[in-house]
Amino acid sequence: MADHVLVTGGAGYIGSHACKALAAAGVIPVTFDNLVTGWEEAVKFGPFAQGDLLDRARLDAVFAEYQPIAVMHFAALSQVGESMSEPGKYWRNNVSGSLNLIEAAVDSGCMNFVFSSTCATYGDQDNVVLDENSAQYPINAYGASKRAIEDILRDFETSNGLRHVIFRYFNVAGADPDGEVGEFHQPETHLIPLMLDAIDGKRDALTIFGTDYDTPDGTCIRDYVHVCDLVDAHVLGLKWLQDDKASRVFNLGTGSGFSVREVIDHSRSVTNREVPYNEGDRRAGDCTKLVSGSSRAVSELGWSPTRSTLQQMIADAWRWHQTGHYSK
Ligand code: UFG
Repeated sequence: MADHVLVTGGAGYIGSHACKALAAAGVIPVTFDNLVTGWEEAVKFGPFAQGDLLDRARLDAVFAEYQPIAVMHFAALSQVGESMSEPGKYWRNNVSGSLNLIEAAVDSGCMNFVFSSTCATYGDQDNVVLDENSAQYPINAYGASKRAIEDILRDFETSNGLRHVIFRYFNVAGADPDGEVGEFHQPETHLIPLMLDAIDGKRDALTIFGTDYDTPDGTCIRDYVHVCDLVDAHVLGLKWLQDDKASRVFNLGTGSGFSVREVIDHSRSVTNREVPYNEGDRRAGDCTKLVSGSSRAVSELGWSPTRSTLQQMIADAWRWHQTGHYSK
C-alpha cells in the first residue's frame, strides 16, 4: 500500500496541482479542504476528507484514518488586499488553523511538514536581494500571518522534533498543461486570470494598480513561477524530509522580475488579442518589487523550473481559461 500525504487545501489552485504531482510520484494525496475557496471537482487524484482547520476533532479523525507520512499545508486565505481590510480573518484562519493542524500532526506522530509560505513575508525592501536569510518585515496581514506560522513550526521542531520544509512562493501562475486542473478563484484577484478575463470580455477592463512605483515603467514587479514547477519542488521537499535532512527554507521563484505592463505585453503576444486596461490607484499592501535572489532550491533540492517562462505560464493559463472551469 502506498503512503498517504495529507494535503490541506488540496481542492484549491496550488493544492490540486500538488495532488496530481504526488499521485504521479506514487503517494496517495488525501485532500483536507473546507471548500470555502476550493472546488470539489478539483479533487481527482486521491480521497477527499472535507473539514475545517479550526475543527480539531475532525483533524484528529483524519490523521487517525489515513496515518499520513507527511502534511503538505496549502490551505490559507491569500488575498493581500483583503488581509488589509479584514486582518482578523487572516489571523484566525491562517494562524489559528495552522496551529491546530500542527498540534494534530504532532499528537498523531506525523513529524514531516511541508509549508506554503510566501515572499510577502519579506515585505518591501528596496534594493535588497531576497534570499532565505533576508529579514522578514511583512507589510500586510497576509504576509504577517504566514511569518507567524513559520515561527510556530520552528518552535514545534524545538519542542517535539517536527521536521519541516518551508517554501516561500513568489507569484504562482499557469495551469496543468493536460487541463485536468487549473486556476479558478471566486472572487478572482490575481493579475493573469483577471487579464485573460478582460481579454475575452468576461469582465471589465483590467485596472493597473498604481503606475507611480519606483520601477522602470512605474508598475509593480513580480517573479512569476509556473504552478507545475512549484509543485515539483514540493515532491522534492517531501523526499528531503524522507531522507532525514534538516528543516530548511527555500524560496520558489526564478529570479526574473516582470512588471504589470510587461505581463500585459506578453499576454497580448500570446493571445494575439488586445488587453483592455486602465490605470488606477495603488492597492493597499502591495510591495513595489518581489524577486527571488536565491537559487538554493536549485542547488540543494535539485529543483529545475523548466516551465516558468512568462510565455508558457500565460499560454497554459490561457488554454485552461478557454477550456476548463469549476462550478459549485
Ligand atoms: N495587479 C493589478 N491589477 C489587478 C490585479 C493585480 O495591477 O487587477 C497587480 C498587483 O498590484 C501586483 C501584481 O499585479 O503588482 C500581481 O498581483 P497579484 O494579485 O496577482 O499577486 P500579488 O503579488 O498581490 O500576490 C500573490 C499571491 C499572494 C502571494 C504574493 C507574493 O496572491 O498569495 O503573490 O507576491 F503572497
